[in-house]
Amino acid sequence: MNTSNASITRQSVIDQYLPAVVTPQCERMSDAVFAPSNIALCKYWGKRDAELNLPINSSLSISLAHLGTRTSIRVADADQVWLNGTRLAIGDKFARKVIAFIDLFRRGSDHRVKVVTENNIPTAAGLASSASGFAALMKAVDQFYGLQLPLLQQSAFARMGSGSASRSLYDGFVEWQMGIREDGMDSVAAPLDCVWPELRIGLVKVSTGEKAVDSRSGMNRTVDTAHLYQSWPLQAAADLQRLHNAINAKDFTLLGETAEQNSLSMHATMIASWPPLLYWQPDSVAAMQTIWQARAVGTELYFTMDAGPNIKLLFLADAEAQVRKFFPDLEVISPFA
Ligand code: PMV
Repeated sequence: MNTSNASITRQSVIDQYLPAVVTPQCERMSDAVFAPSNIALCKYWGKRDAELNLPINSSLSISLAHLGTRTSIRVADADQVWLNGTRLAIGDKFARKVIAFIDLFRRGSDHRVKVVTENNIPTAAGLASSASGFAALMKAVDQFYGLQLPLLQQSAFARMGSGSASRSLYDGFVEWQMGIREDGMDSVAAPLDCVWPELRIGLVKVSTGEKAVDSRSGMNRTVDTAHLYQSWPLQAAADLQRLHNAINAKDFTLLGETAEQNSLSMHATMIASWPPLLYWQPDSVAAMQTIWQARAVGTELYFTMDAGPNIKLLFLADAEAQVRKFFPDLEVISPFA
């Protein structure tokens, strides 16, 4: 399924949009930029190009308002990456990814950088930070080098760091179009013109440990080994349309049902991979059963899950008291507050 064109690299694509020489903008050094985390209601699962992180299907997410990553870049004597107040070892996996991303933009220009990044996502929520992390890093790069790239280009470049980061450049509902170009410059995200102030997201923590199989390896395994994956692009396309209808009509039942079925369909393709890929823990299944019981007694409550054991609840503001009876320790987010 991977139809990568080996001659097109991240660097060759980015080079076409950068000035001949990039220069750090010293007067902007102290600003920190913010990008929100996001949760997909129609998931991105499967790459058609591993180098550029081009997806096999379009996806749609909701950004998590004030929860996300704040990042700044300044000139330094040596490259260094700070995460939540701690300087990372230069061989650290995260630090290497960050510096590799900066390298795409400084293109041999002779300066070193200090990257300071803070996640305010509650660690207890077990949310991935790569989406907000690469989106904030892209915004910080744009500011540090005074590039003033349009947001659609920033979305394309953030996508090269982490696919879901393409959606974290914006607030609210965001759609990432899969695109068809080989260089991926039409595989970009843009916000939907819609606010839904009553919408709530609840974070149910099951486990905060690092997952055994990261999403890149998980996607590749699924695409390569699961026959069931063949139906995934069709499911995703239908769900995307249903989500548009739900959002336009403010039909919460349609939104919740679609998001939950989309997420479970994605997990079905993982389970059907070889070796099997099951991110669920017993507590994930227990939470699902609680959600289905809550629905059976009239509480409009749905869920979605990413490549991990944690559950994200979807409900409307007027159901919050009911939902809390089932999930007393819930962290609740108002994406449009
Ligand atoms: O952006 P990545 O490579 O971490 O992949 C994200 C994959 C999912 O979270 C499972 C789905 C999505 O669309 O965010």
